[in-house]
Amino acid sequence: MTPPPTVTPEREDSKRAEAFMLPVMPPPLPEAPSAERIAELSAEIRGLAAQKNAVILAHNYQVPEVQDVADYTGDSLGLSIEASKTDAERIVFCGVHFMAESAKVLSPEKTVLIPDTRAGCSLASGITAQQVRDWKAENPGAVVVMYVNTTAEVKAETDYCVTSSNAVNVVNAIPQDKEILFGPDMFLGSYVEKMTKRPMKVWMGECHVHAGIRPADLQKMLDDSPEADLMIHPECGCSTSAMEYLACGDIDPDRTFILSTGGMIEHVKKSKAKKFIVATEEGIFHPLRLAAPDREFVPASDGAVCGFMKTITLERLRDSLRDDKFTVEIDPAIAERARVPIERMISITA
Ligand code: 13P
Ligand code: SF4
Repeated sequence: MTPPPTVTPEREDSKRAEAFMLPVMPPPLPEAPSAERIAELSAEIRGLAAQKNAVILAHNYQVPEVQDVADYTGDSLGLSIEASKTDAERIVFCGVHFMAESAKVLSPEKTVLIPDTRAGCSLASGITAQQVRDWKAENPGAVVVMYVNTTAEVKAETDYCVTSSNAVNVVNAIPQDKEILFGPDMFLGSYVEKMTKRPMKVWMGECHVHAGIRPADLQKMLDDSPEADLMIHPECGCSTSAMEYLACGDIDPDRTFILSTGGMIEHVKKSKAKKFIVATEEGIFHPLRLAAPDREFVPASDGAVCGFMKTITLERLRDSLRDDKFTVEIDPAIAERARVPIERMISITA
């Protein structure tokens, strides 16, 4: 087969893509609001949420003021689970588009809103449903395992969805005699192969934020802070080298943790370390500091910012609630097929 591209600019000709025109590269970052403006908008948002029977879900990479006003914050898996459990009429998803799509797939009868139409994801843009169909045709009988950072159309072609917190468990649950096509993140794929000791065919996609956190960043931090715990998101460009360092005994396995964003928050609550080197998007520092205010958190690399996540501001969240925009719609036939791998992911985790 022709080697897959790292980032695919063209995407499925679906209603979703037309309606949202998701960008391949993130827009510029918005300005931070003043404390007074945050208080004013937050009160307005909470009032609108009550009036409209809406639940606000926010990913751990959202700006702090959006995380603070939300009903639930969490990682992709945690938010999918919240979306599947809620009784609210509306779900306002402060995250990126594929996450809001998962909420809609799990709750088709509810109104799912995303406050900004530019909240795409470079990793989810890296594979299309047609590419998955072609890959399957070249590998008949293989099981397709896709990271949750994919469009609903791709999920409709998928057997099992995974997130960074359950990828290893899901792959371990697949019968040993089955070939696995894993995508779209090559760093997560390589991490899962090492953990499960199971070779897979891995799609060569990447997230532009995490791929930019390089092994050299990690090495420098380790040299500077030998007493710190090291927490690495498995999408990072440094995660595979961290596995190698671990295997060679160059870094201490008792102080190195490859974790989802939710796993990082849980880890700092349990760890006795005073300092943590953190290799993921900078939004995570807010929930980490709330979880453990007496510890020190240091980024493994400067500039790890997801501009897609940061498109969502308090103003846009308020407008979304007030004006019921922007509605996430998925073709019901696609949604029905996409629900299967998402529900498998949730049941393996639960
Ligand atoms: P988590 O599931 O760990 O929150 O990761 C989501 C994501 O988009 C990472 O870039
Ligand atoms: Fe997508 Fe990367 Fe942003 Fe996560 S950090 S939402 S993978 S672009």
